[in-house]
Amino acid sequence: MSMLGTSTVEETALLLPAGFELGVATASYQIEGAVDEGGRGRSIWDTFSHTPGRIANGDTGDVACDHYHRHREDVALMSELGVDSYRFSLAWPRLQPEGRGPALQAGLDFYSRLVDELLEAGITPLATLYHWDLPQALEDAGGWRVRDTAERFADYAVLVQQHLGDRVSRWITLNEPYCSSVLGYGTGRHAPGVRDTGSALAAAHHLLLGHGLALEAMRAASSGSGASYGITLNLEPVSPLTDSADDREAAERSLVLSNLLFTDPVLRGRYPAAAREIWPVDYSFLHDGDLEITSTPLDFLGVNYYFPARVRYVPYDEADPGLRRIDDLGAESPVLSEDEVTEMGWPVDAGGLRRLLRWLHETYPGLPPVLVTENGRACADTPVDGTVDDPERIGYVDAHLRAVAQAVREGVDVRGYFHWSLMDNFEWAEGYAKRFGLVHVDYDTQARLRKRSFGWYRDLIAARRD
Ligand code: FCB
Repeated sequence: MSMLGTSTVEETALLLPAGFELGVATASYQIEGAVDEGGRGRSIWDTFSHTPGRIANGDTGDVACDHYHRHREDVALMSELGVDSYRFSLAWPRLQPEGRGPALQAGLDFYSRLVDELLEAGITPLATLYHWDLPQALEDAGGWRVRDTAERFADYAVLVQQHLGDRVSRWITLNEPYCSSVLGYGTGRHAPGVRDTGSALAAAHHLLLGHGLALEAMRAASSGSGASYGITLNLEPVSPLTDSADDREAAERSLVLSNLLFTDPVLRGRYPAAAREIWPVDYSFLHDGDLEITSTPLDFLGVNYYFPARVRYVPYDEADPGLRRIDDLGAESPVLSEDEVTEMGWPVDAGGLRRLLRWLHETYPGLPPVLVTENGRACADTPVDGTVDDPERIGYVDAHLRAVAQAVREGVDVRGYFHWSLMDNFEWAEGYAKRFGLVHVDYDTQARLRKRSFGWYRDLIAARRD
């Protein structure tokens, strides 16, 4: 893998279907900084990151990559890469500080300038409306645990579209509702840091309801505009580690939490039957007609893939009786001794992306076109003599793109791939310690440095068929 050269770039490029879209992805709280500028309100991640003990090294997104001030330079980097498109997210509290009411002009101006710069550079914007930075004021009113937040989200979506919809024609409602609900309200690993199974399941439902309400409202408000809409889910190919009945059952339970809890309501208009057995909570948050809304047809499905689940049975946590932690499923997905692991400790398995895409295709007839909206890996990227050599990242992206190409040959309709991420950034609970970028960021000086993978991705993009 360390010997990847031009011929490999060309080979991989030629495997991609004609017209295959290549881009990069980021998210607002991870890159923008400027948390007190332009009247921006507080988000749950401001609160969480300023709570001692929540984030590695006590890091916060206060400054991050200072993208709010350096967006021109960052768009220039993308232009140099030659990407077709840029997936970014909008910070809800920059547009509605309290999560309701009229839009803030400074926030609109910022995103409007960004969109204009992208279009001038020939880069198509793909805007995510919610990548986890919920206005704190809405959290104080119950956050995603309450139904009202879904309604507020739909209002916000329409407001944003009213102002940017003349130039942005592709929208992703939510990024990874699994993380917002399960990690945010279930395990407490992410903001707002709640640990309660019933809250997590209510949050998951209200997120998907908000997605559907937003999608319906945006479509109604822009009929005939040709805009397209999707949602991004983080999914795992799930398999039992052995053929034992225990492992197989553990894998089935894991599949419910990691995939079906989200894919079934969105793609099939129902909840997996096993959910009620696994989590015997009060499901009164589910109202008649909700599942028609959550399953409003998508124009595309965004899929984020990082690693697979190979599940084995472990006993339930005896210290956690009664209503268990949401992720206490009598299952675990161990890292295996033969695994190559990233700096995140995540096993590398490009074939897992192919299996996941095939699983989606086979499980959901009529699956909409898929965009891989995130994929990438953290490496220990340290500049040496002004360069960052990251052959592991190059090998990872190369292998995953080949896996996508293979899935396409096998009949899955995948239209594009967005590398996570354009540049190193605030990696949530891990802070700045984990680096995922094609561009290295020196957080003391904000200097951007192209890693070797940057040149590799640029060459790959240039080598594609028309
Ligand atoms: C995903 C998130 C993204 C980034 C990557 C590494 O779960 O959507 O913001 O942190 O993981």
